[in-house]
Amino acid sequence: MTAFTVALVLVVAAAGLLRWRRPAWYWMTFGVTLASLRVLVRYASVMDACGLTVPPPRWRLALARIANRPVPDSRPPRILRFRPTRTGLVLRLGLRPGQDAFDVAAASDRLRHSFSMYGVTSREVRSGVVEVRMTGYDVLKRVQMPAKVDTRPMRVPVALREDGSVHYRDYRAVPHALTLGATESGKSVYQRNLVAGLAPMDVALVGIDCKQGVELFPLARRFSALADNPDTAADLLDALVSRMEGVYQLIRAEQRITSAVPDAEIAADIWDLPDDIRPVPVVVLVDEVAELALFASKEEEKRRDRIITALVRLAQLGRAAGIYLEICGQRFGSELGKGITMLRAQLTARTAHRVNDETSANMAFGDISPDAVLAAIQIPAETRGLAIAGDSTGGWHRIRAPHTSLRQAVNTCNRHADRTPALPELAPFRPELVSSSEALVPLSKTAPVTA
Ligand SMILES: Nc1ncnc2c1ncn2[C@@H]1O[C@H](COP(=O)(O)OP(=O)(O)OP(=O)(O)O)[C@@H](O)[C@H]1O
Ligand SMILES: [Mg+2]
Repeated sequence: MTAFTVALVLVVAAAGLLRWRRPAWYWMTFGVTLASLRVLVRYASVMDACGLTVPPPRWRLALARIANRPVPDSRPPRILRFRPTRTGLVLRLGLRPGQDAFDVAAASDRLRHSFSMYGVTSREVRSGVVEVRMTGYDVLKRVQMPAKVDTRPMRVPVALREDGSVHYRDYRAVPHALTLGATESGKSVYQRNLVAGLAPMDVALVGIDCKQGVELFPLARRFSALADNPDTAADLLDALVSRMEGVYQLIRAEQRITSAVPDAEIAADIWDLPDDIRPVPVVVLVDEVAELALFASKEEEKRRDRIITALVRLAQLGRAAGIYLEICGQRFGSELGKGITMLRAQLTARTAHRVNDETSANMAFGDISPDAVLAAIQIPAETRGLAIAGDSTGGWHRIRAPHTSLRQAVNTCNRHADRTPALPELAPFRPELVSSSEALVPLSKTAPVTA
């Protein structure tokens, strides 16, 4: 008996310790079983208390009256599927007549408290079926990406969503993206995760980093072209535009369309070409975009116009030629001059890290979703890397990328350096590579700045 009590105390203490220090481990060991039991046992009464039940149908009431049986209870939505996951529970519910997905969404906070879960979100799967995702702990506090993710070409698992699912950056579905956030909010870490995710894929990476290259130059071995100042950036973007025109000529030649057809009307893209002649897709990463749009003299103004025009052309026509833009900045509004709002309209995927004012959040979500604007302003300053990711459909999620250090990203890029394609049009911008012993010197100097 004493041995049993000691063992019980030890187990409870271990569970308490795990729950406090390692919530993910606690969930996998004890949490998932306890939460499953709690949800299944209390399901009917919680649904009733949360106003998610409907009265029995008339025929059952009539049958009960005829048979002189007690009046049947109100019925909660049917559980179609119950699935424990690495971070929580997923319930698929079949709605009863008269219920809608909004009822479940509106009750999600009540469900969260009633089932003692950390978070509850719901979405409609199809007519009459709603999926309720519950998380057992704060999955964004210490982001751990699942070991098994759904990998496809040009689709990077870049962050974790608050409901425990993986947030993908899918270049073929949403070609261009804008990432905003105040200084020290986590933009460069997010971009670093993207680079590390893209490194093992068949893709050319092009970087423009006007912070003197401190973020992207350490990753140079996986980059086909890099620019660290606006002058080089202007030439690099012009070279990309000519590459895009070259790719269109190739597609047109393959389609055997007359040369009188303007570029924008070509319906096909590089993915329709046979594998052996398909040009390699290019992802252009721009960090601190405002630096490209600022000018102090007439000369610089001309350069700025050249840069913005090239970016707008790439954003408008680049997708079919396999050129994708990934733009990061602190603000990206009309105060940066003409052409900026036009460029922003082409950047479909929006991500906002912590912003200091509503105007900055509006630059990301003002034209998409007012709720997302509010959520972006409410991100606390201490949880760096937390962001709101939205898309043009009006949907948005709270996401956080794993904290990939510069050293980890450098290692990933170096491991896949042999995949770096040499693009002839961008040859003048190919970064000069130094030997690894030399590379350690600048890296060790920049590491503390970004860590
Ligand atoms: N996903 C994350 N998880 C944990 N910590 C993070 C995350 N993202 C960023 N941080 C922390 O925040 C710091 C600043 O991040 P980062 O350099 O990406 O900011 P930034 O928005 O690019 O800032 P700036 O505009 O000054 O370049 C990082 O050094 C890191 O310590
Ligand atoms: Mg940065």
